[in-house]
Amino acid sequence: MRDFEGTNLTGKEEAQLQYEYLEKAKAYVAAKEQEKGRKLTYCVQTFGCQMNARDSEKLVGILEQAGYVEAEDEHADFVIYNTCTVRENANNKVYGRLGYLSNYKKKNPDMMITLCGCMMQEPEVVEKLKKSYRFVNLVFGTHNIYKFAELLCRALESDSMIVDIWKDTDKIVEDLPVKRKFSFKSGVNIMFGCNNFCSYCIVPYVRGRERSREPQDIIREIEGLVKDGVCEIMLLGQNVNSYGKNLEQPITFAELLREVDKIEGLKRIRFMTSHPKDLSDDLILAMKECKKVCKHMHLPLQSGSSRILKIMNRHYNKERYLELVDKLRKEIPDIALTTDIIVGFPGETEEDFLETMDVVKKVGYDSAFTFIYSKRTGTPAASMENQIPADVVKDRFDRLLKEVQTIATDKAMALEGKVMNVLAEELNEQDASLITGRLDNNSVVHFPGNKDMIGQIYPVLLKECKGFYYLGEVVSNE
Ligand code: 5AD
Ligand code: SF4
Repeated sequence: MRDFEGTNLTGKEEAQLQYEYLEKAKAYVAAKEQEKGRKLTYCVQTFGCQMNARDSEKLVGILEQAGYVEAEDEHADFVIYNTCTVRENANNKVYGRLGYLSNYKKKNPDMMITLCGCMMQEPEVVEKLKKSYRFVNLVFGTHNIYKFAELLCRALESDSMIVDIWKDTDKIVEDLPVKRKFSFKSGVNIMFGCNNFCSYCIVPYVRGRERSREPQDIIREIEGLVKDGVCEIMLLGQNVNSYGKNLEQPITFAELLREVDKIEGLKRIRFMTSHPKDLSDDLILAMKECKKVCKHMHLPLQSGSSRILKIMNRHYNKERYLELVDKLRKEIPDIALTTDIIVGFPGETEEDFLETMDVVKKVGYDSAFTFIYSKRTGTPAASMENQIPADVVKDRFDRLLKEVQTIATDKAMALEGKVMNVLAEELNEQDASLITGRLDNNSVVHFPGNKDMIGQIYPVLLKECKGFYYLGEVVSNE
């Protein structure tokens, strides 16, 4: 593994170089197309979080510009798995799918198979691929994704497996092609990496140190997206609350939000993820005052036990977390709160678990992602004693999930009969007389309308809650 940060080129020069490679890739693809008498196809499968989803849009951007067209499934000429490694089962899924791909490749020997993303930053994974999965053509990691055009050329030229993984990088390359999955909404990276080293988490090892983009680059990108029809953006970072601290001219996340809020034509702003330890009063105020910012906060709890939180290296305790929730609710009474919770962290006792259940009941989350602790090699928690037996974890997980679901259903039902703002996103897939939109808290609402309404926010009466979605009716135009 190289820990070198690529070439000495500036971000701009690097982008230019990649456009040159893209031209070269186009020529390869055109020649192959001639030879086969048909278009070449691609399939990009994304595992994991919003960051990976955004990275995949960048990969698709390059593939489409090179001349590939989207395939329906993995029976394609170029298949990419953009992997996640936050939990062990994510890794197992990839190995399982690779088995299928090797069979497809037997039928289409020209097929190119690429693996990238977080899992590739683990040296054991790459060793295993080199040894047992020789049919893979290209392997790269999270830090050099910007040079995919170049790697694509190298892979197309070569008969053997190409592996290019960097340990870290300080480079941010702007303005490469991107193909958005949705026409009306988009993720926008505001920072990369993570410096927090929560003791269970592999992300800081595979995504590297925290790097923030310059605010003017972010604003410019969003303005471009708005011109292109985007009305909702999600600002993405592992810990957006520490955005901007290390820039030459430091700026806070709250300040960035206020700037983004001013962008004309933009309707909604979301962000992900906030770390409770860095949640400032300033940010709460900015959320309250910025009209376009969704009144929704995803605030990962991980555990409700102060003792476990300390061992997790989270830098807050149960009381502090509940205080933050109180503050948020005081300033923004109708705020939607969601969270992430891990069950079965090493040494977690029944008492610790009951503390988590207590926070869940006290906060009343609109929804929560619950995870069974997964041992990630190389993290401090992996070598801790007192790993919890699987049956105990499963029992706690089931109890937690039941509680979370009961509360979430009550919360969803409580909105029935209320008038809420809904952003009209697309025509309903089953019934074209309906529009499908979303509330601030991301819940789906179907209501009568037409395609001219797409991209606008409407006050909608939530007539009926159907569990995961609502049926509604516009009450009056804005
Ligand atoms: N085991 C289980 N869940 C984890 N997460 C991160 N690392 C682990 C792990 N080792 C969860 C956290 C985080 C979410 C993205 O994934 O809850 O917030
Ligand atoms: Fe992982 Fe903690 Fe960083 Fe989130 S803040 S990515 S849980 S180390």
